[in-house]
Amino acid sequence: MESIQAIKQRFGIIGNDPKLNRAIEKAIQVSPTDISVLVTGESGVGKESIPKIIHQLSHRKHGKYIAVNCGAIPEGTIDSELFGHEKGAFTGATQTRNGYFEVADGGTIFLDEVGELPLTTQVRLLRVLENGEFIKVGSSKVQKTDVRIVAATNVNMFEAIKKEKFREDLYYRLSTVDINIPPLRERKEDIHLLFRKFASDFALKYKMPTIKLTDDAVIILKKHRWNGNIRQLRNAAEQISVLEQNRTISTATLQGYLPNGSSNLPAVIKTSKAESDFSNEREILYKVLFDMKSDLNDLKKLTMKLMKNGNVSEVEKDNEGLIQKIYGEPQKESAIEEFEDLEILAIPEQSSEIFDPEDKNQDKYHFAEEIEEEETLSLHDKELELIKKSLERHQGKRKLAAAELGISERTLYRKIKQYDL
Ligand SMILES: Nc1ncnc2c1ncn2[C@@H]1O[C@H](COP(=O)(O)OP(=O)(O)O)[C@@H](O)[C@H]1O
Ligand SMILES: [Mg+2]
Repeated sequence: MESIQAIKQRFGIIGNDPKLNRAIEKAIQVSPTDISVLVTGESGVGKESIPKIIHQLSHRKHGKYIAVNCGAIPEGTIDSELFGHEKGAFTGATQTRNGYFEVADGGTIFLDEVGELPLTTQVRLLRVLENGEFIKVGSSKVQKTDVRIVAATNVNMFEAIKKEKFREDLYYRLSTVDINIPPLRERKEDIHLLFRKFASDFALKYKMPTIKLTDDAVIILKKHRWNGNIRQLRNAAEQISVLEQNRTISTATLQGYLPNGSSNLPAVIKTSKAESDFSNEREILYKVLFDMKSDLNDLKKLTMKLMKNGNVSEVEKDNEGLIQKIYGEPQKESAIEEFEDLEILAIPEQSSEIFDPEDKNQDKYHFAEEIEEEETLSLHDKELELIKKSLERHQGKRKLAAAELGISERTLYRKIKQYDL
């Protein structure tokens, strides 16, 4: 059995916290079995490494590994994405399509944000877990699949069960083994370690000297609450690496990059208007400039290759990823990868006074339908509204809008397609 240290190295996991080590140890222990695992922990703590470890150390490692972000797939298409559909099952279903559970036969499926699954999909999932059976949408034929399921959630599943948003029987089926990843604020000793690693990565990436925190700044860094966990820490390290000329970072400088100053108090719920989230124009402009620089470098690379090779179609084929990055074209329609690492827009929490999450009769989709005429209140509508406004503000310039919204251009492109803007 590979040691915890070796696994960390192999999967690029930084940290020595005992609770993190325990989580990795559990993943190693369960990997040879087919036991379903539920990974729990706040957003940004590093849940996604666990299913990868489990898959790679299992006998399924030569099979497919599919990561599905359940929260990013619209309710109307999720059953078809997961279980496939028959030709003619619904308008637009011009061909029979295999779902992820069929494609991943013999492999592993990672269901990220599993708490977001609609109840009807939960019923189908329970069946797969119980006897490996599923039925394509629009079909009556029962099919078999052999898939290992690892799920993850950052929501309190007991709350979700209480509110009848999540089936209790499914919860117990999914969480035969529970692997919890603690929040960064409970792994204080890892904070500076991670920061140094990110600082050195970004120094390499941007070809600048590595930033270094003063001793006082290290104390502030460790005290901070890090609500966005490692994701937030990495973003802070990137911003500082890019923006600060003086590579020795003082407390005052660091605090400028931490929301709520250096507070280690619980974060205040956002009450401000959407617009004020995007008020820091300097930051946005810097981000745009750096994106442009990166695009320019990519273009240089591509031009050089074209000059050297001369064969356009060959260069095009070999550099598909790069071309897509520069021109923002999606590689394929409705591919599995589309849902991997799909960023989701943070929606300002304004609608909470009207949408009551305590009210179990008020399911969000149902709710969105009811108030459609009055105001745009559902999460999707909110997102749509934010995107529209941002595009208007920037006269349709996607790069600026994406920077303002804090998502990649690729994600914005998909969302524009998704909302038919
Ligand atoms: N221990 C770690 N060491 C290095 N990077 C990490 C670690 N944990 C998480 N990350 C990075 O932080 C980001 C967020 O991790 P992710 O697994 O996506 O979080 P979650 O799924 O829990 O929201 C990713 O870019 C990931 O590579
Ligand atoms: Mg995640």
